Amino acid sequence: MNDLTQCVVTPKVKTDGFEALGAAVHRASTIVFADAAAYATRGQRGPDGYSYGLYGTPTTRTLEQKITQLEQGHRTLLAPSGQAANAIAMLAVLNAGDKVLVADTAYPPVRDFVNTDVAKFGVRAEYYDPTSPEGLERRIDGNTKLVWCESPGDHGSPGSAADCRDRASARRARRIRQHLGDPS
Ligand SMILES: Cc1ncc(COP(=O)(O)O)c(C=O)c1O
Repeated sequence: MNDLTQCVVTPKVKTDGFEALGAAVHRASTIVFADAAAYATRGQRGPDGYSYGLYGTPTTRTLEQKITQLEQGHRTLLAPSGQAANAIAMLAVLNAGDKVLVADTAYPPVRDFVNTDVAKFGVRAEYYDPTSPEGLERRIDGNTKLVWCESPGDHGSPGSAADCRDRASARRARRIRQHLGDPS
């Protein structure tokens, strides 16, 4: 038998002493574990640990940390698209019985998502005029969990961004989350 196919397992090379200015591109679906016990306890590695390629690689964590620094934020979670990020932000905070206040100028797929998908879970959406901060404040009630802003609104609404930021601290005091989307 003459087997021409050779299988070369990716060798481990030394990385000690190597430091580059650019971030390395790590492509991974599966993460390699040293043994079965390391795999079984992978959940204990926490959000900064590595357990599955889609949850983060050193490449994506580098980008997340840069965005956190630029935005002076607490933590960044990359999503594969803008609408995916919208969905993650909503589903993370909304529960049955909650109300979400959405700017009337929001990106149309956000309206579809709250009117059809999020509504199925017993969450009610109401729309507000982003040029009228007083109108928005009047719509906030005890069930309001999230105020959805866009900066500027998808259909353009000068002034709405500043109004959203100005009033965010008052909402935080009432434990209402505010999402500020950026259509750029
Ligand atoms: C405010 C806003 N959110 C989300 C999106 C969707 O982004 P993506 O096409 O990456 O899902 C857009 C796209 O224009 C947008 O303007």
